[in-house]
Amino acid sequence: MSVIAVIGAQWGDEGKGKIVDLLAEKARVVVRFSGGDNAGHTVINQYGEFGLHIIPSGIFYPGVTCIVGNGVVINPEILIGEISQLEQRGVDTGRLFISDRAHLIMPYHTLLDGLEEESRGGNAIGTTRKGIGPAFADKTARLGIRVGDLLEKEALLKRLRFILESKNAILTRVYGVKPLSVDEIYSRYCRYGELLAPRIRETVVMLSEALDRNEPIMLEGAQGALLDPDFGTYPYTTSSSPLAGGSCLGSGIGPKQVKSILGVVKAYCTRVGGGPMPTELTDETGDSIRELAHEYGTTTGRPRRCGWFDAVATRFSARVNSLTGIAITRLDVLDTLPRLKICTGYKLEGEVINYFPASITALSKCQPVYEELPGWQSATSHIR
Ligand code: IMP
Repeated sequence: MSVIAVIGAQWGDEGKGKIVDLLAEKARVVVRFSGGDNAGHTVINQYGEFGLHIIPSGIFYPGVTCIVGNGVVINPEILIGEISQLEQRGVDTGRLFISDRAHLIMPYHTLLDGLEEESRGGNAIGTTRKGIGPAFADKTARLGIRVGDLLEKEALLKRLRFILESKNAILTRVYGVKPLSVDEIYSRYCRYGELLAPRIRETVVMLSEALDRNEPIMLEGAQGALLDPDFGTYPYTTSSSPLAGGSCLGSGIGPKQVKSILGVVKAYCTRVGGGPMPTELTDETGDSIRELAHEYGTTTGRPRRCGWFDAVATRFSARVNSLTGIAITRLDVLDTLPRLKICTGYKLEGEVINYFPASITALSKCQPVYEELPGWQSATSHIR
């Protein structure tokens, strides 16, 4: 296996969890490299049912080291909750480590995510309101607080005071809400730091040692390529890169080390939140796919928008990720449908194009050109 990256190649929720779970058994190290607790997957196994948002599913395999990489933004309360959920049910979490370089989601990030969404009104992005955008914005603006900072309490207090001054000015003067207390956040985050301290590591060193030992490493993606801030349907995107390129940036493994890049796609498309989706079905077929597949968000419970498989978007995704393989999930959802459609081009202002336009105005105008095929109309879920 050496190093494999598993990437969502649509708008997220492609069933990466299942594929990662299958491959994690063969890995020695699994690294989550982007996003935060906006992602989520449900795992059902011999220990019970778990809703995981941050911890890689490799945690269920003895002997697999799990790393939450530098490219993830971590809400420590959520992470600590997941660790205790696992431990209470007998899952050993002693092999879970967190990069000291990962940024923290702070209380003002979640608060501002909600306030900013409200203020966008009809232009809302439909974020998960987990503070992801504001946390990545602060990382880029060099106003972030990192996991490693939790271990340097004096410096943490100084930095928090400095940052909260401007955050509180925004909260009170722009949004007219109450300011946040430095002392309360400081004591809460010091407590988180004490709980997480044994797991905080220089994970780049851990990974380079694993590479030296030639251990199989899996880089676990979150969200999907079409939610990438550069190549997705900007501004209706997330705030970190779900791409294969992001797997290097978010883990500290160099691009030459990644030997295979597996793109995961569903046999149809789904999307949660706002933004264009050329093959969206707002009719009975869309509703029936949603109900058959129970397409509701794991993190927010929102109904997912459903539509036909979009080969234009998937080809684009294959290119920007350099996919070496593809895993198609949820074929069985289509088992009963008499006719199936695959979008092979977009009709834009009278012309058929076969690329994924950058402009959301153009993409919103794109009419899918379909190839129509008879359905197989027989059960496939038993096929291995
Ligand atoms: P954010 O990542 O919470 O800022 O949300 C930005 C956009 O990405 C919204 O349209 C969300 O619905 C979408 N999004 C974020 N995480 C996921 C995911 O795990 N699956 C599907 N969509 C997601």
